[in-house]
Amino acid sequence: MDYFNYRNDELFAEDIAVSDIVYKYGSPCYIYSRATLERHWKAFDQAFGEQAHLICYAVKANSNIAILNLLARLGSGFDIVSLGELERVITAGGDPKKIVFSGVGKREDEILAALKIGIRCFNIEVSGELDRINRLAGQLGVIAPVSFRVNPDVDAKTHPYISTGLKENKFGIDIQQALTEYRRAAAMPHISVIGIDCHIGSQLTETRPFLDALDKILDLVAALEAEGIKLHHLDLGGGLGICYKDEQPPEPAEYIQAVLARLGQTDFEILLEPGRAIVGNAGILVTQVEYLKPTANKNFAIVDAAMNDLVRPALYSAWQNIIPVNRQNNAAEATWDIVGPVCETGDFLGKDRTLKIAQGDLLAIRSSGAYGFTMSSNYNSRPRLAELIVDGSNLHVIRERETIAQLWAGEHLLP
Ligand code: LLP
Repeated sequence: MDYFNYRNDELFAEDIAVSDIVYKYGSPCYIYSRATLERHWKAFDQAFGEQAHLICYAVKANSNIAILNLLARLGSGFDIVSLGELERVITAGGDPKKIVFSGVGKREDEILAALKIGIRCFNIEVSGELDRINRLAGQLGVIAPVSFRVNPDVDAKTHPYISTGLKENKFGIDIQQALTEYRRAAAMPHISVIGIDCHIGSQLTETRPFLDALDKILDLVAALEAEGIKLHHLDLGGGLGICYKDEQPPEPAEYIQAVLARLGQTDFEILLEPGRAIVGNAGILVTQVEYLKPTANKNFAIVDAAMNDLVRPALYSAWQNIIPVNRQNNAAEATWDIVGPVCETGDFLGKDRTLKIAQGDLLAIRSSGAYGFTMSSNYNSRPRLAELIVDGSNLHVIRERETIAQLWAGEHLLP
């Protein structure tokens, strides 16, 4: 459920008309709903009941510091994958003790920064990373808390680009080799082994692959315990899908109940790293129709947003719903490809959409809160968009539209 609804044919973000926001702040722009964001985070948090747990929001989904701050205020933890994300979380008031650090290629400077700040856990993905963390922790005279991200070889049944838990994927440590790595880690002077982690992919619409991965992890946990290696937490990653079109992913509560049922009575703290399910449907991208271009084969609606602003359709052939901001419209219904001004055939936001549209109309691209702004670029020298958040009848600019001059800030001419 979200808070983008029509009132008398006019699309509202909570209590504010989307067209009013665009009138004031221009098009295109990202608009988020605070109530939706918080509702989704709480759905995860509350489903755990008395079970010890920590929701570590995956920062990559939407890393605006205002969003991170709102989640930090709710008590959220964070899953980060870079120094930039670490600094964002700290700047936003996140608690270092609730940060887990994932990612296959952690650099030395990133590990050092995380050790100095004192994060909760490194999710190790490569054998060499363990040696690197042990050495750097030794240099600083600290003990690094670690878990291994194991690759359980489970098919997440999602888009191949966002499937991560198969053995042909670059992620995690092969579950067959994990025992050896845990033994090595347990013997290292500057390492404290505290958990186990997996993340098998994104936009999962079924519970089964999660449970299959959990089963494999529990087998490994039993083998570790038999060797005297006792863990504190199980981190089951992110990946719960959302409804873009007609998918029916389990609700967070349903998914978490299934996990808890499988675990039974447990002393483990359970960590999750959801991104999309928290922020995806808490955001829309609003764009204006610049031109209508009917041709012999196709009708194109050329809008002012493009693949650089929202790359998911171009990159994954992702389908996101496109709806009129004002649906009271006299235009004739037709089938349109909604395309941007970028010089690439792949620059589309939606294909074959049946809509009544006229030049100048505003369209809202739904489900754009996750992997929307964070994956945007300056391709074609297009400034990145403004981001706004609605809170009831209040509106806040949480990122100003980039200026043209900012495009080349930091670039230099030769003498
Ligand atoms: N944890 C780890 C280690 C991850 O790699 C990811 C996402 C998450 C958590 C959060 O997954 P989520 O709950 O959001 O599914 N750009 C793609 C999605 C890439 C996901 C990458 N990893 C898209 O737009 O569909």
